[in-house]
Amino acid sequence: MKDTCHLYTDLAWLWPMWGDAATEYAHYCQHVSGLIRKHAQRSVATLLNIGCGGGKNVFNLKRDFEVTGLDLSPAMLAQAKELNPGGAFVQGDMRTFRLGQHFDAVLMDDAISHMNCRADFVAAFRTAYEHLHPGGVLIATPDVTIETFQQNQTTTTPASRDGLDLVFVENVYDPDPADEQYETTILYLIRDRARLRIETEHWTMGIFSLDTWRHVLRETGFDVHEEQYISGQDSYTMFACVKAR
Ligand SMILES: C[S@@+](CC[C@H](N)C(=O)[O-])C[C@H]1O[C@@H](n2cnc3c(N)ncnc32)[C@H](O)[C@@H]1O
Repeated sequence: MKDTCHLYTDLAWLWPMWGDAATEYAHYCQHVSGLIRKHAQRSVATLLNIGCGGGKNVFNLKRDFEVTGLDLSPAMLAQAKELNPGGAFVQGDMRTFRLGQHFDAVLMDDAISHMNCRADFVAAFRTAYEHLHPGGVLIATPDVTIETFQQNQTTTTPASRDGLDLVFVENVYDPDPADEQYETTILYLIRDRARLRIETEHWTMGIFSLDTWRHVLRETGFDVHEEQYISGQDSYTMFACVKAR
Protein backbone atom coordinates (compact mmCIF):
# COMPACT_ATOMS: atom_id res chain seq x y z
CA MET A 1 0.00 0.00 0.00
CA LYS A 2 1.29 3.48 -0.88
CA ASP A 3 2.06 5.96 1.89
CA THR A 4 -0.14 9.05 2.27
CA CYS A 5 0.41 12.35 4.09
CA HIS A 6 -3.03 13.75 4.96
CA LEU A 7 -2.50 14.58 8.64
CA TYR A 8 0.46 16.82 7.85
CA THR A 9 -1.17 18.50 4.83
CA ASP A 10 -4.92 18.75 4.09
CA LEU A 11 -6.03 17.22 7.41
CA ALA A 12 -3.61 19.14 9.67
CA TRP A 13 -6.61 21.05 11.03
CA LEU A 14 -7.60 17.81 12.84
CA TRP A 15 -4.39 17.75 14.92
CA PRO A 16 -5.64 20.11 17.69
CA MET A 17 -8.53 17.70 18.30
CA TRP A 18 -6.23 14.72 18.84
CA GLY A 19 -5.08 15.17 22.46
CA ASP A 20 -5.31 18.38 24.46
CA ALA A 21 -2.03 20.33 24.64
CA ALA A 22 -2.60 21.79 28.10
CA THR A 23 -3.57 18.53 29.80
CA GLU A 24 -2.25 15.48 27.93
CA TYR A 25 1.19 16.90 27.13
CA ALA A 26 1.86 18.85 30.34
CA HIS A 27 3.08 16.03 32.59
CA TYR A 28 5.45 14.67 29.95
CA CYS A 29 6.88 18.14 29.29
CA GLN A 30 7.52 18.66 33.02
CA HIS A 31 9.49 15.45 32.90
CA VAL A 32 11.43 16.68 29.83
CA SER A 33 12.31 19.94 31.63
CA GLY A 34 13.40 18.03 34.75
CA LEU A 35 15.69 15.74 32.75
CA ILE A 36 17.24 18.68 30.94
CA ARG A 37 17.98 20.45 34.26
CA LYS A 38 19.36 17.24 35.75
CA HIS A 39 21.77 16.38 32.94
CA ALA A 40 22.81 19.70 31.37
CA GLN A 41 26.38 20.76 31.93
CA ARG A 42 25.61 24.39 31.19
CA SER A 43 22.80 26.76 32.09
CA VAL A 44 19.76 26.14 29.89
CA ALA A 45 17.77 28.97 28.36
CA THR A 46 17.08 27.88 24.78
CA LEU A 47 15.49 24.71 23.38
CA LEU A 48 14.97 23.44 19.84
CA ASN A 49 11.99 21.08 19.37
CA ILE A 50 12.75 19.06 16.24
CA GLY A 51 9.57 17.67 14.64
CA CYS A 52 7.42 20.08 16.68
CA GLY A 53 4.28 19.29 14.68
CA GLY A 54 1.28 21.25 15.94
CA GLY A 55 3.31 22.73 18.81
CA LYS A 56 1.73 20.93 21.79
CA ASN A 57 5.10 20.25 23.41
CA VAL A 58 6.14 23.82 22.61
CA PHE A 59 2.98 25.08 24.35
CA ASN A 60 4.20 23.54 27.62
CA LEU A 61 7.98 23.89 27.28
CA LYS A 62 7.85 27.62 26.55
CA ARG A 63 7.10 28.16 30.27
CA ASP A 64 10.63 26.95 31.04
CA PHE A 65 12.65 27.78 27.93
CA GLU A 66 12.91 30.07 24.95
CA VAL A 67 11.67 27.54 22.38
CA THR A 68 12.18 27.26 18.62
CA GLY A 69 10.06 24.67 16.81
CA LEU A 70 11.13 22.99 13.60
CA ASP A 71 9.00 20.81 11.34
CA LEU A 72 8.85 19.64 7.73
CA SER A 73 5.18 20.44 7.28
CA PRO A 74 4.01 24.03 6.66
CA ALA A 75 0.44 22.98 7.56
CA MET A 76 1.54 21.63 10.94
CA LEU A 77 3.68 24.71 11.55
CA ALA A 78 0.59 26.84 10.89
CA GLN A 79 -1.20 24.89 13.67
CA ALA A 80 1.82 25.37 15.95
CA LYS A 81 1.78 29.13 15.34
CA GLU A 82 -1.93 29.33 16.11
CA LEU A 83 -1.40 27.52 19.42
CA ASN A 84 1.72 29.55 20.24
CA PRO A 85 1.25 33.10 18.90
CA GLY A 86 4.54 34.93 18.53
CA GLY A 87 6.57 31.69 18.86
CA ALA A 88 9.66 30.99 16.74
CA PHE A 89 9.05 28.30 14.12
CA VAL A 90 11.08 27.20 11.12
CA GLN A 91 10.46 24.78 8.32
CA GLY A 92 13.10 22.13 7.66
CA ASP A 93 13.88 18.45 7.30
CA MET A 94 15.36 16.91 10.44
CA ARG A 95 17.71 14.79 8.35
CA THR A 96 19.42 17.72 6.66
CA PHE A 97 18.59 21.18 8.06
CA ARG A 98 21.34 23.39 9.53
CA LEU A 99 20.10 26.62 11.13
CA GLY A 100 23.56 28.01 11.82
CA GLN A 101 22.42 28.46 15.42
CA HIS A 102 23.10 26.52 18.65
CA PHE A 103 20.77 25.68 21.53
CA ASP A 104 21.18 24.60 25.17
CA ALA A 105 18.71 21.73 24.73
CA VAL A 106 16.99 19.80 21.94
CA LEU A 107 13.83 17.66 22.15
CA MET A 108 12.99 14.98 19.60
CA ASP A 109 10.16 12.54 20.24
CA ASP A 110 7.22 11.17 18.23
CA ALA A 111 8.43 12.64 14.92
CA ILE A 112 11.47 10.31 14.98
CA SER A 113 9.14 7.42 14.13
CA HIS A 114 9.00 8.90 10.63
CA MET A 115 12.71 8.07 10.20
CA ASN A 116 11.98 4.76 8.51
CA CYS A 117 15.48 3.61 7.61
CA ARG A 118 18.75 3.48 9.53
CA ALA A 119 20.40 6.21 7.42
CA ASP A 120 17.60 8.71 8.17
CA PHE A 121 17.58 7.76 11.86
CA VAL A 122 21.34 8.40 12.10
CA ALA A 123 21.07 11.66 10.12
CA ALA A 124 18.36 13.03 12.45
CA PHE A 125 20.55 12.57 15.55
CA ARG A 126 23.51 14.12 13.74
CA THR A 127 21.29 17.17 13.12
CA ALA A 128 20.42 17.37 16.84
CA TYR A 129 24.10 17.12 17.79
CA GLU A 130 25.10 19.86 15.35
CA HIS A 131 22.54 22.26 16.91
CA LEU A 132 23.65 21.81 20.55
CA HIS A 133 26.15 23.90 22.48
CA PRO A 134 28.82 21.82 24.27
CA GLY A 135 27.35 20.75 27.62
CA GLY A 136 23.83 20.88 26.15
CA VAL A 137 21.32 18.01 26.27
CA LEU A 138 19.25 16.18 23.69
CA ILE A 139 16.13 14.52 25.10
CA ALA A 140 15.08 11.74 22.73
CA THR A 141 11.94 9.72 23.46
CA PRO A 142 11.05 6.75 21.26
CA ASP A 143 7.29 6.42 20.73
CA VAL A 144 7.89 2.74 20.18
CA THR A 145 10.83 0.33 20.17
CA ILE A 146 11.14 -3.32 19.15
CA GLU A 147 10.80 -4.15 22.87
CA THR A 148 7.52 -2.23 23.36
CA PHE A 149 5.79 -2.76 19.98
CA GLN A 150 2.41 -4.54 20.17
CA GLN A 151 1.48 -6.29 16.95
CA ASN A 152 -1.91 -5.26 15.50
CA GLN A 153 -2.62 -2.85 18.38
CA THR A 154 -5.60 -0.66 17.55
CA THR A 155 -6.61 2.45 19.44
CA THR A 156 -9.78 4.46 19.01
CA THR A 157 -9.89 8.12 20.03
CA PRO A 158 -13.16 10.07 19.84
CA ALA A 159 -13.24 13.89 19.93
CA SER A 160 -15.89 16.61 19.56
CA ARG A 161 -15.68 20.34 18.99
CA ASP A 162 -17.84 23.06 17.39
CA GLY A 163 -20.32 20.74 15.66
CA LEU A 164 -17.57 18.31 14.58
CA ASP A 165 -17.54 14.73 15.81
CA LEU A 166 -14.37 12.81 15.07
CA VAL A 167 -13.08 9.31 15.58
CA PHE A 168 -9.43 8.45 14.99
CA VAL A 169 -8.84 4.71 14.61
CA GLU A 170 -5.12 3.92 14.57
CA ASN A 171 -3.67 0.47 13.88
CA VAL A 172 -0.02 -0.55 14.00
CA TYR A 173 1.23 -3.65 12.25
CA ASP A 174 4.68 -5.06 11.56
CA PRO A 175 4.60 -7.26 8.43
CA ASP A 176 8.27 -8.26 8.84
CA PRO A 177 9.66 -8.13 12.39
CA ALA A 178 13.14 -8.85 10.98
CA ASP A 179 13.43 -5.40 9.43
CA GLU A 180 13.35 -1.89 10.98
CA GLN A 181 9.95 -0.76 9.70
CA TYR A 182 6.28 -1.10 10.68
CA GLU A 183 3.00 0.27 9.33
CA THR A 184 0.63 2.79 10.89
CA THR A 185 -2.83 2.87 9.34
CA ILE A 186 -5.35 5.49 10.40
CA LEU A 187 -9.04 5.81 9.71
CA TYR A 188 -10.53 9.26 10.21
CA LEU A 189 -14.31 9.39 10.69
CA ILE A 190 -15.19 13.07 10.38
CA ARG A 191 -18.80 14.11 11.01
CA ASP A 192 -19.50 17.75 10.29
CA ARG A 193 -22.97 18.37 11.71
CA ALA A 194 -23.67 14.64 11.28
CA ARG A 195 -22.51 14.47 7.61
CA LEU A 196 -19.94 11.67 7.43
CA ARG A 197 -16.60 11.92 5.63
CA ILE A 198 -14.12 9.03 5.80
CA GLU A 199 -10.40 9.47 5.15
CA THR A 200 -7.56 6.98 5.46
CA GLU A 201 -3.83 7.24 6.11
CA HIS A 202 -0.96 4.83 5.71
CA TRP A 203 2.59 5.45 6.92
CA THR A 204 5.74 3.33 6.80
CA MET A 205 7.46 4.07 10.10
CA GLY A 206 10.85 3.20 11.61
CA ILE A 207 11.31 0.87 14.57
CA PHE A 208 14.61 0.15 16.30
CA SER A 209 15.71 -1.82 19.35
CA LEU A 210 16.79 0.00 22.51
CA ASP A 211 20.31 -1.27 21.85
CA THR A 212 20.23 0.36 18.39
CA TRP A 213 19.12 3.66 19.96
CA ARG A 214 21.97 3.44 22.49
CA HIS A 215 24.50 2.55 19.81
CA VAL A 216 23.46 5.29 17.36
CA LEU A 217 23.32 7.98 20.08
CA ARG A 218 26.80 7.02 21.35
CA GLU A 219 28.22 6.85 17.82
CA THR A 220 26.83 10.36 17.21
CA GLY A 221 29.06 11.55 20.06
CA PHE A 222 26.65 11.77 23.01
CA ASP A 223 27.15 10.67 26.60
CA VAL A 224 23.89 8.70 27.01
CA HIS A 225 21.69 8.43 30.14
CA GLU A 226 18.36 6.59 30.38
CA GLU A 227 15.26 7.20 32.49
CA GLN A 228 11.80 5.62 32.49
CA TYR A 229 8.71 7.76 32.06
CA ILE A 230 5.41 6.24 33.17
CA SER A 231 2.17 7.48 31.62
CA GLY A 232 -0.92 5.51 32.70
CA GLN A 233 -0.28 1.88 31.80
CA ASP A 234 2.61 2.74 29.46
CA SER A 235 6.30 3.08 30.25
CA TYR A 236 8.64 4.95 27.90
CA THR A 237 12.43 5.02 27.85
CA MET A 238 13.74 8.56 27.62
CA PHE A 239 17.33 9.19 26.55
CA ALA A 240 19.11 12.22 28.02
CA CYS A 241 22.13 12.70 25.75
CA VAL A 242 24.86 15.15 26.70
CA LYS A 243 27.20 16.74 24.16
CA ALA A 244 30.67 16.79 25.73
CA ARG A 245 32.12 20.19 26.63
C1 LIG B 1 2.93 13.55 15.44
S1 LIG B 1 3.57 15.00 14.78
C2 LIG B 1 4.43 15.78 16.14
C3 LIG B 1 3.51 16.42 17.13
C4 LIG B 1 4.24 17.18 18.21
N1 LIG B 1 4.92 16.29 19.13
C5 LIG B 1 3.39 18.17 18.97
O1 LIG B 1 3.80 18.50 20.10
O2 LIG B 1 2.36 18.67 18.46
C6 LIG B 1 4.93 14.41 13.84
C7 LIG B 1 5.60 15.49 13.03
O3 LIG B 1 6.79 14.98 12.43
C8 LIG B 1 7.02 15.79 11.30
N2 LIG B 1 8.05 15.21 10.44
C9 LIG B 1 8.00 14.05 9.74
N3 LIG B 1 9.13 13.87 9.04
C10 LIG B 1 9.92 14.96 9.30
C11 LIG B 1 11.20 15.36 8.86
N4 LIG B 1 11.92 14.62 8.00
N5 LIG B 1 11.71 16.53 9.33
C12 LIG B 1 10.98 17.31 10.19
N6 LIG B 1 9.75 16.97 10.64
C13 LIG B 1 9.22 15.81 10.20
C14 LIG B 1 5.64 15.86 10.65
O4 LIG B 1 5.56 16.93 9.72
C15 LIG B 1 4.75 16.02 11.88
O5 LIG B 1 4.41 17.35 12.10
